[in-house]
Amino acid sequence: MTADNDRYDAILGLRALRSFRDEPLPDSVIERLLEAARWTGSSKNRQNWSFIVVDGEQKERLAACGDFTDPIRDAPMALALVQEPDGYEFDTGRLAQNVMLAADALGVASCPITLHREQDAAKVLELPAGARCRYAIALGYPDDGAKPRRFGGRKPLDEVAYRNRHGEPW
Ligand SMILES: Cc1cc2nc3c(=O)[nH]c(=O)nc-3n(C[C@H](O)[C@H](O)[C@H](O)COP(=O)(O)O)c2cc1C
Repeated sequence: MTADNDRYDAILGLRALRSFRDEPLPDSVIERLLEAARWTGSSKNRQNWSFIVVDGEQKERLAACGDFTDPIRDAPMALALVQEPDGYEFDTGRLAQNVMLAADALGVASCPITLHREQDAAKVLELPAGARCRYAIALGYPDDGAKPRRFGGRKPLDEVAYRNRHGEPW
């Protein structure tokens, strides 16, 4: 394995983007995003998840399930991340990051979205009993003015990274 600074910079540079061109993603691109989702590692490789492509009028119904969901309305599609029975939330987080990094590599903008009213989301998506969906990702080609929000900075390393014990400098 060789070091790849471009890939490293892409990881650090990944930002949530919320402003999209009014243009659907081609199925070939959607399929590549779904493949990135499918190949995400999961606990014990259980893959207790599913992914639902949401577009058209169904987008508005999904957007109504959360409080800060305008990116779903503004994007051509959202990908709803479903935690199937016995799935783990940690796996869903990995899934989201994989899809977002793959999207970035394909020139597609993305924004994670919280569906605060999970029970509503389960109804909209017609989930089977025991499946949950708390997160979705808005996806689409970025419009020309798409830039990250200004509050997107990060805490300094010394405030968040320790060695051996909480509070010990790393
Ligand atoms: C778990 C999670 C839930 C999020 N939910 C929303 C949301 O509902 N609406 C939204 O506009 N952004 C949402 N975001 C995006 C965050 O606001 C964004 O990642 C954060 O402000 C940092 O900005 P950056 O990713 O551009 O650096 C969410 C992010 C995460 C990780």
